[in-house]
Amino acid sequence: MSKALILVVEDDPLQRRLIKQNLEREDYTVYETSSGKGARELVGLYPFDIAVVDFKLDDETGIDVIRDLLAQSPLLTPIIVTAFANVENAVEAMRRGAYDYIVKPIDFDKFLIVIERALERQKLRQEVSALRSSLEEKFSSRNFVFASSKMEEVARLISKASRSDATVLITGETGTGKDLLARTIHYSSRRKEGPFLAVNLPSLPETLVESELFGAEKGAFTGAFERKTGKFEAASGGTLFLDEVGDLPLPLQVKLLRFLQDREFVRLGSTRPLRSDVRIIAATNRDLEKLMKEEKFRPDLYYRLNVIRIDVPSLRQRKEDIPPLVDFFIQKYASREGKKIEGISKEAMAALMSYPFHGNIRELENTIERAVIFSEGDTLSLADLPVFLKEKREEDLATEGSSLTEKVRRLETREIKTALLEANGVKSKAARALGISERMLRYKMKSYGIT
Ligand SMILES: Nc1ncnc2c1ncn2[C@@H]1O[C@H](COP(=O)(O)OP(=O)(O)OP(=O)(O)O)[C@@H](O)[C@H]1O
Ligand SMILES: [Mg+2]
Repeated sequence: MSKALILVVEDDPLQRRLIKQNLEREDYTVYETSSGKGARELVGLYPFDIAVVDFKLDDETGIDVIRDLLAQSPLLTPIIVTAFANVENAVEAMRRGAYDYIVKPIDFDKFLIVIERALERQKLRQEVSALRSSLEEKFSSRNFVFASSKMEEVARLISKASRSDATVLITGETGTGKDLLARTIHYSSRRKEGPFLAVNLPSLPETLVESELFGAEKGAFTGAFERKTGKFEAASGGTLFLDEVGDLPLPLQVKLLRFLQDREFVRLGSTRPLRSDVRIIAATNRDLEKLMKEEKFRPDLYYRLNVIRIDVPSLRQRKEDIPPLVDFFIQKYASREGKKIEGISKEAMAALMSYPFHGNIRELENTIERAVIFSEGDTLSLADLPVFLKEKREEDLATEGSSLTEKVRRLETREIKTALLEANGVKSKAARALGISERMLRYKMKSYGIT
């Protein structure tokens, strides 16, 4: 395989041949042309890594050619060739997108070094670009799975939020997908080329939160040996995700409020206001309204954050999402484990549907991941699910189809046993917890045979 694909644009036939020969000797694959017109055509046909372009072509300058080549192929690295007397042309060309320049007469040892360096940069840029598209793919709406109308509403808000630059507040129980939604918004917004930085506030020691977020001047606190860049600065041009914003200490709530109002902040140990072009997405699984009542969260900050509000419903409120999510996770983990699993048995799906996933989608995902790892067939079955899920299902099956009296008996028996257990066997206490008289409790225990 060739080391790289290089285009040479030079109107002087002798120069052109010399350049081509030198490059080919190094195992590069070279295409040549004498004009800008030829170059524009070739770039449409081959994925060049580098274009070596002479500055003075017949009827135009190399700058015009480079501009058009980059428009067609943004990842191309252009290098300009110019006469020694006209080095200012090279400077201008570099200002307009050329990566480097070579002066004539060409010193081919130096020339080949320039080419090698350009290729290294080329490789890095391609890697970055591939990483970026894999991130975009990972957080594209195709990986945001749902079937319920409740989540359709959330999806509508997500696409609204992606088109706007407004602050977003995402609330929802743990594991409902707040993190995923924040990233999805970023990677489909106009800021997607910029950074996405996430700060998990509860995981930071309180003394470090301020410098983490806003940065610190050298010597601002013991141990600050050099200037520290904060997340607000580092996320400039992109999105800053403040996870668990309900945990932000009150003094820092004031600083965040100031930023949201004036787009300004100051580093710790400084008084000079700095600006940053960053979009804020905040999330919390805590009840901010309640925190406000307890005076732990500032109402003015709450209203500033609450511009686009997305409440992600718990999985219990949208059971219709369970089947498509289960399929999605089966595919994901089967392909990771290199297993061929086609689906899930009716029984196992029924067990999942009736389980109250308090850890929401994260818990469902972990359950499926584990089941895929343990499964030995081509269909996930009840046996692959954790014990508590199986037991719940067996209990459901036992009650299914039986008479109302029988169902009531099972239910009351379970409730009474639990209440007795929690009351350490003290009947008066258990009766109180159940909201019935002690006499009624004794009667029911006797008739149900509870000892
Ligand atoms: N609609 C969805 N489609 C596919 N995967 C999802 C969906 N919602 C959540 N997930 C997955 O579930 C897991 C938990 O989601 P995430 O980390 O976003 O939850 P969270 O709300 O931020 O939870 P916490 O409050 O605990 O931080 C992740 O692996 C995420 O990719
Ligand atoms: Mg999260």
